[in-house]
Amino acid sequence: MEKTFLMVKPDGVQRNLIGEIVNRFERKGFQLVGAKLMQISNELASEHYGEHKERPFFGELVDFITSGPVFAMVWEGENVIKTAREMMGKTNPAEAAPGTIRGDFGVTVGKNVIHGSDSPESAEREINLFFDQKELVSYTKQDQSWIY
Ligand code: TYD
Ligand code: MG
Repeated sequence: MEKTFLMVKPDGVQRNLIGEIVNRFERKGFQLVGAKLMQISNELASEHYGEHKERPFFGELVDFITSGPVFAMVWEGENVIKTAREMMGKTNPAEAAPGTIRGDFGVTVGKNVIHGSDSPESAEREINLFFDQKELVSYTKQDQSWIY
């Protein structure tokens, strides 16, 4: 089953949005298979956002993502990578549709509440960057056949 890496960013943790965000993916029908509250090091931040190294906002992005704890998660389900991105909304909360996480809770692009992998390749890379295989669990829910 497909897996993706999602992370409540420091602004989301500070604003007590962990529960709200977990709730949205649970209600949708996806399954949480790994999660931890953690402090990201500068090294991990630079590696995670490596594709943006040359962008003007890179320094601020690393400073922000390391400014406080994040809630890192792995979610599983059919099409979870793409669907989670849609539930998050556009990168810039000003353009994110109401009903999406960024559309409902964000204002500026620099503090957009949540990260989510953008492709199967990113998902695999990011899951391995943040989690050991033994931190992920595999389990079946009774009513899963009604969801996906
Ligand atoms: P990006 O990977 O383009 O967006 P997404 O998080 O939707 O995959 O950018 C990574 C993060 O960098 C983004 O969530 C917020 C920050 N960022 C800025 O601060 N300014 C910008 O102009 C862009 C494009 C991103
Ligand atoms: Mg991205």
